[in-house]
Amino acid sequence: MKSLSELKNDCTQCFRCELGKTRTNLVFGTGNPNADIMFIGEGPGEQEDLRGEPFVGRGGKLLDQMLELINLSRSEVYIANIVKCRPPNNRDPLPAERAACSEWLTAQIQLINPRIIVCLGRIAAICLIKPDFKITREHGKWEHFADGCEITAIYHPAALLRDPLKRPETFVDLKSIQEKYTAL
Ligand code: URA
Repeated sequence: MKSLSELKNDCTQCFRCELGKTRTNLVFGTGNPNADIMFIGEGPGEQEDLRGEPFVGRGGKLLDQMLELINLSRSEVYIANIVKCRPPNNRDPLPAERAACSEWLTAQIQLINPRIIVCLGRIAAICLIKPDFKITREHGKWEHFADGCEITAIYHPAALLRDPLKRPETFVDLKSIQEKYTAL
């Protein structure tokens, strides 16, 4: 089996979809390669594309605060995205782009082998939980992902920046994540 850094190296050569042609940097993922908890967003935005790191823009600052609320830090968790290259103008990644990228994420999850996966937003939830996932109704619910691994979804930090009224519900979801994590 490859190591995570070998996988990243292979991924930097990827041109399986059109997004490979327009990226500045690949955004593979960052954090603890042995993390018990993984956070998975949608895809890089402008700042992430420039820096090659996930969640470094405004949404990233909020994600840091959300982690802090439940006593987690970036160095303890692993953060990745459904697609590794920035979709132009920050549009949603297309189904074909998500499919082309899924092998990388699957391998990443296998190598990290987390006990908890947290989808950040609807796109990650429809890819990893079920295609008709409704974030407004189903955020915070726990599902089985694989042996020894449970999965949930919370609102995307960008959605919380747009609509602060969603924050109290997210606080409850974060506390449930903290409870699961501390019980591991
Ligand atoms: N939004 C995401 O979904 N992922 C990032 O890395 C940045 C913003």
